[in-house]
Amino acid sequence: MNNSVRMVLMFLVLILVTNVSAAYNACPKCGSVEVPYPLSTDDNCGDSRYRVYCNNGILEFLSAGGFYYKILSINPNAYKLIISPPSIQENTCYSSDFTSEGLRLDENLPFNISTHNTVMLLNCTAALLRSPLNCSSNSFCRQFEEKVGTGCINTLCCHFLKDSSMTSHMIRVRAGGCTAYTSVVDLKPGTSFDSWNYGIELQWIPAN
Ligand SMILES: *[C@@H]1O[C@H](CO)[C@@H](O)[C@H](O)[C@H]1NC(C)=O
Ligand SMILES: *[C@@H]1O[C@H](CO)[C@@H](O)[C@H](O)[C@H]1NC(C)=O
Ligand SMILES: *[C@@H]1O[C@H](CO)[C@@H](O)[C@H](O)[C@H]1NC(C)=O
Repeated sequence: MNNSVRMVLMFLVLILVTNVSAAYNACPKCGSVEVPYPLSTDDNCGDSRYRVYCNNGILEFLSAGGFYYKILSINPNAYKLIISPPSIQENTCYSSDFTSEGLRLDENLPFNISTHNTVMLLNCTAALLRSPLNCSSNSFCRQFEEKVGTGCINTLCCHFLKDSSMTSHMIRVRAGGCTAYTSVVDLKPGTSFDSWNYGIELQWIPAN
């Protein structure tokens, strides 16, 4: 190989390497948690459209209502992450995100709620009985109410699979509707509440 060919090759390799590292500029870990591309904790890394927050070493997702949800796991190959459902205040039946009316995602951002979530609405008013939700006495939410000691015991509750016929940007709670909720990812019928994978699975549009 003569020298000029070698130079051109080296130049090409250099361009390739710079481009690849620019495209996959992953953010540093948050606490002990990896922050895979395109998620971005900072303007200088990741892709800023995929903003998440590193608060005191805890990786969190911010809703349009201004509430932070802890990120429990991330699967960058499937473009998915799972956030923690809000806690339910002790001795009452209110989700900790009640004041922001539950989970609401900004429709201009590249995230939505996936179709793998079984949502359980708790302390609902009778108006919900007319909805297509499953509010029967053998709804999954009964197990949750009875076994997971919260203030929601013996309230009217309903469950539904968050499928594509519904808005994928909101899980709503409010006075006069339901005041608390939880969610289970990939709930398998016949399994017990203590084996459920509590979480809300979000997916993102792949970064190009
Ligand atoms: C259930 O919701 C109603 C409002 O719809 C509220 O008045 C009541 O306090 C709630 N119950 C509990 C146990 O939090
Ligand atoms: C409600 O859900 C339970 C548990 O999956 C199921 O056994 C029951 O058939 C459902 N009821 C209705 C009306 O869909
Ligand atoms: C949510 O976003 C994914 C990825 O862009 C998309 O494939 C899916 O259709 C969206 N789901 C809904 C219900 O809009």
